[in-house]
Amino acid sequence: MQDLDKIRAEALASVTAATTPEQLDAARVAALGKKGTISGLMKALGAMSPDERKAAGATLNAVRDEVAAALDAAKAVLDAKVLDARLLRERIDVALPARPDAQGRIHPISQTIEEITAIFAQMGFTVAEGPDIEDDFHNFTALNIPPEHPARQMHDTFYFGERPEGGRHLLRTHTSPVQIRTMLSGKPPIRVLVPGRTYRCDSDMTHTPMFHQVEGLVIDEATHMGHLKGCLIEFVRAYFEVDDVPVRFRPSFFPFTEPSAEVDIGCSREGGELKIGPGAGWLEILGCGMVHPNVLRNCGIDPDRYQGFAFGMGVERVAMLKYGIPDLRTFFDSDLRWLKHYGFVPLDVPTLSGGLTR
Ligand code: PHE
Repeated sequence: MQDLDKIRAEALASVTAATTPEQLDAARVAALGKKGTISGLMKALGAMSPDERKAAGATLNAVRDEVAAALDAAKAVLDAKVLDARLLRERIDVALPARPDAQGRIHPISQTIEEITAIFAQMGFTVAEGPDIEDDFHNFTALNIPPEHPARQMHDTFYFGERPEGGRHLLRTHTSPVQIRTMLSGKPPIRVLVPGRTYRCDSDMTHTPMFHQVEGLVIDEATHMGHLKGCLIEFVRAYFEVDDVPVRFRPSFFPFTEPSAEVDIGCSREGGELKIGPGAGWLEILGCGMVHPNVLRNCGIDPDRYQGFAFGMGVERVAMLKYGIPDLRTFFDSDLRWLKHYGFVPLDVPTLSGGLTR
């Protein structure tokens, strides 16, 4: 039984000494594990006479229970310590202030594209995009602007160098080449909206070499000029958020539409301030028309079966009119003060239900 006292003392000492769950587990295995010291004594009971076994067994059980209880108690203490340490490590200071105000703003160009997209998305248009670097076919020829056509001069095109296989790439002068790409890669019915950068070699008060357009294209079997007008009148009212804004369709010319029109909206000028709405003045805001049969044919679409309309507008222009931005060139100055004044708060995403602008 001296053995037992020693074993008991050792087991209890190693339990007390354990400072980590691993050490405690080692103490448990050393005493109560299969090959543990106390388990060893338990096995020895088998060799004793019944009387001896009775006495020794009771003592041994008491020691085993004592050690087991000490282990349990120590485990509870250690577990609590581990949890405390973890809570401290993963602590979040909920009293910290929210992030400081964002410095940046959404640029009016991005905002305007979002607004236009929200309106046309509601009418069932999906967004399509195309490359900024185009070839002659998509930017001109397929749009019914053959080589030597005078309309090519109007576009002040930026050309790249001659390619070994002939022909030159160019920076697209409008978003209309995406009409061609859309019709060549899909089948009617088509209803796409195409926002993007466009380029013309022109720079003065009212022109920048890079600017943005949004193009629209609708092709199906039943669309006519009435749909074009309804769609654009609806757009203009939603975009400018003026229900009674007068809209005028003025005959015009584009090689890729027939008939073609330019759209003007009513405005008034009082005390030098421009106001969109009923008034004596008109402002041109976009070009449009019924897609020319030659364009449909160039894209493998039968003009006797399908027809539709297209429109294109300058993003900077409609942004300037809506937000009273007086100078086109400031859009591209990257002046933070300007952006703070004319920019938009990032989380206010324009929607028709929530309001385009807040
Ligand atoms: N692509 C024309 C332009 O840039 C605009 C337009 C698009 C006109 C579609 C009619 C139809 O001037």
